[in-house]
Amino acid sequence: MTGEGRFCYEAGSVFLETRELTKTYRVGREDVHALRDVDFLARQGDFVVLNGPSGSGKTTFLNMISAIDRPTEGEVVIEGVPTATQTDRQLAGLRRSRIGLVFQTFNLIPVLSAAENVEYPLLLQHLSRSERKDRVAAMLDEVGLGDLTRRRPNELSGGQRQRVAIARALVSEPKMVLADEPTANLDSETGRQVMELTCKLNVEHCVIFIVVTHDPTVASYARRRFQILDGRLSEELPDASVASPS
Ligand SMILES: Nc1ncnc2c1ncn2[C@@H]1O[C@H](COP(=O)(O)OP(=O)(O)O)[C@@H](O)[C@H]1O
Ligand SMILES: [Mg+2]
Repeated sequence: MTGEGRFCYEAGSVFLETRELTKTYRVGREDVHALRDVDFLARQGDFVVLNGPSGSGKTTFLNMISAIDRPTEGEVVIEGVPTATQTDRQLAGLRRSRIGLVFQTFNLIPVLSAAENVEYPLLLQHLSRSERKDRVAAMLDEVGLGDLTRRRPNELSGGQRQRVAIARALVSEPKMVLADEPTANLDSETGRQVMELTCKLNVEHCVIFIVVTHDPTVASYARRRFQILDGRLSEELPDASVASPS
């Protein structure tokens, strides 16, 4: 079940914009053009899937729009502020409060329980212990892990670990969650369930999801689909053959 009605999208305010975003890595004497002139815009509540083969620039794009790394040329503008005008410290603060990250390999802390992993990003916020515990419990309930909060990552299945990681990404109530091949280490049915969960959370929290993948089936969940090839981004417009007759 994919389709219009299940997305949180009311043409919300612009959260993120890139303008002629370019990233070139210098490797020895070679220039690797990871991103070339990427113009992109995401509004509050958007659900975007970005599809592209290995090496096409997907992870580089996420690193740029989460201000983990800085562009070679062009701009990233978050909430109207160009990231180039901000210090590394300001950008770290922006990431903590506004952006959640989900990875292919889950990146959970092995010695912490599911609940402690989800609580971790809240430790840097001014919340009381009981507020933290309440938010963690509610978030784990939402991702369907209410009964497994004490388990450590190695006591959970791949799909359950990714649910913990998604809960951790959302617990600080970010405006945007970036997911880098979140289903790549999951079987297809588990991957489908994880994508269903992200769709549900997109609606309930009205949070932007940007999911990058080289799995074409994940693209069916998108409201907006993009292709990335050799560092160039293009939006896939709805199929012209099903458009209204001319
Ligand atoms: N830190 C880096 N240093 C040099 N080259 C890099 C670095 N990160 C990525 N690249 C290169 O940039 C291109 C895009 O990489 P990446 O964004 O990781 O692609 P994807 O996530 O789509 O697989 C690739 O050619 C890759 O080898
Ligand atoms: Mg990658």
